[in-house]
Amino acid sequence: MADPNAFSTVVVPAAGLGTRFLPVTKSVPKELLPVLNIPAIELVAAEAAQAGAERLVIVTAPGKESLARHFQPNPQLEDLLHACGKDALAQLVRRAPGLLSVETVVQETPLGLGHAVACAEPVLTGADDAVAVILPDDILLPADTLTRMAAVRQDHGGTVMCAFTASRDRLGAYGVFDLEDATDTDAPRVRGMVEKPDPALAPSTFACAGRYLLDRSVFELLKRVRPGARGEIDLTDAVVDAIAEGQPVHAIVHSGTRHDIGDPQGMLRAAVDFALSDPAADPTLRDWLGRRLALPV
Ligand code: G1P
Repeated sequence: MADPNAFSTVVVPAAGLGTRFLPVTKSVPKELLPVLNIPAIELVAAEAAQAGAERLVIVTAPGKESLARHFQPNPQLEDLLHACGKDALAQLVRRAPGLLSVETVVQETPLGLGHAVACAEPVLTGADDAVAVILPDDILLPADTLTRMAAVRQDHGGTVMCAFTASRDRLGAYGVFDLEDATDTDAPRVRGMVEKPDPALAPSTFACAGRYLLDRSVFELLKRVRPGARGEIDLTDAVVDAIAEGQPVHAIVHSGTRHDIGDPQGMLRAAVDFALSDPAADPTLRDWLGRRLALPV
């Protein structure tokens, strides 16, 4: 019998317009923009596969069909690369389709994160007792967050969230946690949560990062969530309802790196971080950066 605490499906909300990245997102889905040479959606798929997932359900919008194409094999290109001795590149081309099975569902109207996640419900199976969600704008390093969250669900059941410490002035951009014991760095229980609060009134400086391990029952709760003040159906509200029902909701605290690659500055930071961490990368980049930083702006 399948382990009810494990998960095999990861839902990736990817229906947004990518307004922070215009004009490139006029014709290219934000999730195909690369961190160096790897599209963000492939980083997500690799993280999901590493955590043991077998299936990625990408929630797309009309016009973003090229997202799924990245996961289709391209034997002609591979043959061409092999024929000119570029075997490593052929392997790179084969990587995305080989990671896990990928399917898409379409969110016709952008009605918020909760609505996007709920769009995946019709394709869940009876074995999906828990479903993971990765927000592709958020790169978390090290990339073992979902594995840590699965261990917490193993111990406590229910839903597991991911918290990081944000500066108070930024809290209005996030869901913010009220944790039962904020000194518990292992898996504090979540007592409450507020979506995009006035920073002065936020219950803590623990913000919600884009990784969720949802108990299947959250999908039922999502059906009852009404649009909030911004007219969106928030995933946070379904989690708050789960807490009100007495369901266990815990958070892991992510203390590693977080890059928001949903805008050009964050993407650039991630690219520099990846380039500097890759031993095979151009060794002159570090020197160049050092020299550039010493120049007047
Ligand atoms: C979403 C969630 C928010 C979370 C954030 C993390 O907000 O609603 O709770 O803190 O992702 O990136 P969004 O960035 O979609 O506005």
